Amino acid sequence: MQKTITVIPGDGIGQEVVAASLSVLKTVAKKFYHTFEYKHALAGGAALDAIGIPLPDETLKHCKESDAVLLGAVGGPKWDSNPQHLKPERALLGLRKELGLYANIRPAKIYSALVDASALKKEIVDGVDIIVVRELTGGIYFGKPSGFEKRNGEEVGFNTMIYSESEVRRIAQAAFEIARKRKKKICSIDKANILETSQLWRKVVIETAKDFPDIELSHMYVDNCSMQLIRNPKQFDVIVTENMFGDILSDEAAMLTGSIGMLASASLGGTVAMYEPVHGSAPDIAGQNKANPIATIASVAMMLRYSFDLQTEADVIENAIEKVLNAGYRTGDIYTEGTTLLGTKEMAQKISESLQ
Ligand code: IPM
Ligand code: MG
Repeated sequence: MQKTITVIPGDGIGQEVVAASLSVLKTVAKKFYHTFEYKHALAGGAALDAIGIPLPDETLKHCKESDAVLLGAVGGPKWDSNPQHLKPERALLGLRKELGLYANIRPAKIYSALVDASALKKEIVDGVDIIVVRELTGGIYFGKPSGFEKRNGEEVGFNTMIYSESEVRRIAQAAFEIARKRKKKICSIDKANILETSQLWRKVVIETAKDFPDIELSHMYVDNCSMQLIRNPKQFDVIVTENMFGDILSDEAAMLTGSIGMLASASLGGTVAMYEPVHGSAPDIAGQNKANPIATIASVAMMLRYSFDLQTEADVIENAIEKVLNAGYRTGDIYTEGTTLLGTKEMAQKISESLQ
């Protein structure tokens, strides 16, 4: 198989985890006789430093012409005080919007070797296997009007949370399809006791459910969900929710598994999909070979599975991750006494060796 992948390392540890994940992907390509062509492109702070804007047209063009996009992370303190349109995070939002990636899939599955790395008790987290399906191109992240202005003599900041029926329907459908391939159980998260967007959300999700009579649908308010994720996470299988709630809940779900450094994601819905770790650019440990590359390596596995339909290859990567963890190798974020501490590169190398 021959495929072109746009590679956007971005900022901070993005550079290291992407390099590490490509070393694993190259091993897979060799083992299974695939040819992957990598086109490196700039986005985020790296693009701001190079040409003064967070998302160059050239990067978008590369993405649109390729078969998949792999992204590391964007952002860092260096650009935090930039005006809104010149923040690195704009690149991520621009890519999602321009590529039409409305469905963000964030699996939070605990590896049995890591139950002790979770901040929660073993009985609570052992066996957790949740997929958060986050709406990614609507809601308060993109709603207009937004901005700053003077009102009654003081500055105000404002955003608009807005959803249309069609936006809710397509993400609900995507989530129901996923639930169908799992435990046929879905929990839709909203704040319908307060927000009109949530009332519409709930109405459309209930309508959509009529086409999926085999799936059990429940609803939960977002504040309760954030509590239930800690109290009894195993009650959840597929969670579907809007953009900002999904941003927050997916970080929380990630932490159940021990570290956000483990969590992969896929953003689907357009013609080209994008894959990225759930974690950010972690400027505090950037450039020190300390970052956990597993989230990005697992994102590469998702790419092989969802974009290229290479199920065996994806399984091989995921099994290799599991084997390396079972053998006691850890990066700093998941280190516990008695395990072996590895750097970013060494972890990737172990995973490559283990899949050969
Ligand atoms: C994420 C991140 C992004 C988001 C930021 C970096 C724009 O937190 O992918 O979850 O809020 O969506
Ligand atoms: Mg987030």
